[in-house]
Amino acid sequence: MKQFINVYDVLTPEMQHTGTAINNMVGAALAYKAHPLKDQHLGKNLRIGMLFLNPSLRTRLSTQVAAANLGMESIVFNVDKEGWALEFEEGAIMSGNTVEHIKDAAPILGSYFDVLAIRTFPSLKNREDDYSELYINQFIRRYAGVPVISLESATLHPLQSLTDIITIQEDLLRKVGTAQKKPKVVLTWAPHVKPLPQCVANSFAQWVNAWGEADFVITHPEDYALDTQFTNGATITHNQTEALQDADYVYVKNWSTYHDYGKVYENDPAWMLTNERLALTNNAKVMHCLPVRRNVELSDEILDGPNSLVTTEAGNRVWAAQAVLANILQTLKQG
Ligand code: CP
Repeated sequence: MKQFINVYDVLTPEMQHTGTAINNMVGAALAYKAHPLKDQHLGKNLRIGMLFLNPSLRTRLSTQVAAANLGMESIVFNVDKEGWALEFEEGAIMSGNTVEHIKDAAPILGSYFDVLAIRTFPSLKNREDDYSELYINQFIRRYAGVPVISLESATLHPLQSLTDIITIQEDLLRKVGTAQKKPKVVLTWAPHVKPLPQCVANSFAQWVNAWGEADFVITHPEDYALDTQFTNGATITHNQTEALQDADYVYVKNWSTYHDYGKVYENDPAWMLTNERLALTNNAKVMHCLPVRRNVELSDEILDGPNSLVTTEAGNRVWAAQAVLANILQTLKQG
């Protein structure tokens, strides 16, 4: 792999099917979970620069742990708090608050590191800019030759989605011996107090559709339709009760509106998952990427209950990051 920005980056020329490529990544991640230090020389004398334009707990720390497991040095730069305010607009007259143009900063960062990783968020103001991935694409273009890993971009969160499939697959493997059928995986919208990006939901939909090993249903209030480029292939319903019937996995996430971009239209608390609603499912496991607003997005009784996979899921972020980094390091070593 030369970059990790979306699900199609896991496809190699010899692989026809993205599902096979995803399963290979899942296998690599679970092998690292069993033996974290088995490739501790792979990243020796190599350095990853991790740039954050937004806050993070899991993405930052899990990627640093993954890099350390591979013997790689990681340097974190909280651009939003410690760096000069960056300008991304071509031809900008920089008489406002921005101090340094990405054109000047990016090649320098590219010369300091062997691999670069960056987290940006969407503005949620201009859909065209956000969905053209203005920021991360500028980094990729200007760092010619240095692999770039997305730590979440304006529209996608691939390290989270790989983790989510690892977590489902790992849970399914525990059930060996029981009758195997395609699991029913439901992505459900949940209420929140402020407008959030669509990244996690878009990305989860993109990965589960590309994986092709789940009966995949998305449920949300009518105004919260996601971009069809990510959801095509899933069954979509505005009836959460119907969606939850016989579900094996329920992935809970809030997102703001996509069509009338970045708005919160309604926050009907009835969309929050409770044990009463969970009773509709096939004793489903519940997932969330975290951070979560307790008793707004998800109830305490679910988060603290036996069906919650959220802590396992967050723990698996290390193995997803390690599998991705190892794949990129192998590509670097092959020249
Ligand atoms: N899920 C996730 O990306 O968490 P952080 O925002 O803490 O990195």
